[in-house]
Amino acid sequence: MRLIQHKKEAYWFYRFLSLGYDRWVNPLFWTPPMRAAALELARLDDALTVLDAGAGTGFTTEGIVARVPARQVTMLDQSPHQLARARAKAALADCPKLLGDAERLPFADDTFDRYVSAGSIEYWPDPQRGIAEAYRVTKPQGTALIIGPVRPANRLARRLAEAWMLFPAAEEYEGWMRAAGFDQVQAKELAPAWYRDRRGPYALAVSGVKPAPGPPRVALRGAPEDLYAPLTAKQRALVAARLVTGAAAGAAFVPIGAVLALRARRRG
Ligand SMILES: C[S@@+](CC[C@H](N)C(=O)[O-])C[C@H]1O[C@@H](n2cnc3c(N)ncnc32)[C@H](O)[C@@H]1O
Repeated sequence: MRLIQHKKEAYWFYRFLSLGYDRWVNPLFWTPPMRAAALELARLDDALTVLDAGAGTGFTTEGIVARVPARQVTMLDQSPHQLARARAKAALADCPKLLGDAERLPFADDTFDRYVSAGSIEYWPDPQRGIAEAYRVTKPQGTALIIGPVRPANRLARRLAEAWMLFPAAEEYEGWMRAAGFDQVQAKELAPAWYRDRRGPYALAVSGVKPAPGPPRVALRGAPEDLYAPLTAKQRALVAARLVTGAAAGAAFVPIGAVLALRARRRG
């Protein structure tokens, strides 16, 4: 179903989630040790320019600016509410911040030394298009890094997850990177300390190096979904219904994560 894997639904989802995002989401599901492990694949240093696509409130960007001067790190997100939270953070004050779509990046080919996107691909209606855009704006010999969730092995978790948004298989991430044209594709498994399921990974960081200048190899069909396309009353009702049902499925993960995190902390 993937009810929130659409731009308007994701926009409204983050209209509300941004209120508690830094407090309830990242501390449970996208932790500083996971961020540090993922960003190793980006091989950051202080001479680079970086795009953080789907930067949100800036949790991943904070990890990036620990290694790269903030003025060289551009934050892009489709949610003004998430970016407003980032604007309040002193460490991110010098980062250029832009409203925009990860599937239609407002930058020329070969602009950034590094492209990073954490926890955003699961909302993109056309993930191959977003990764093709990552390829296009990355400079030759530059690295792109995509971080996202993986299809849960647990049946109930998978049902809830797939009602909510996109949880790709590990091979899908690597396939999209290779189809876009990236070389040296590498993947690293990530999980919060409370995650104990040995049947499969929780999340993945996947990186690739752009071998040559110019656009991606992959041919894309049609136009990307448009956040600002006008809707009929019936379509608005459908967006609202998808939003409420998808958000309820997503919200179920917060108490589950909180209980598992508490249990893991008690066990030490
Ligand atoms: C789970 S949050 C991750 C935020 C941040 N990267 C972090 O590490 O905390 C996902 C973000 O992706 C953004 N997003 C979703 N679809 C997008 C799109 N098509 N273009 C740009 N941003 C998008 C959402 O607005 C949200 O801020």
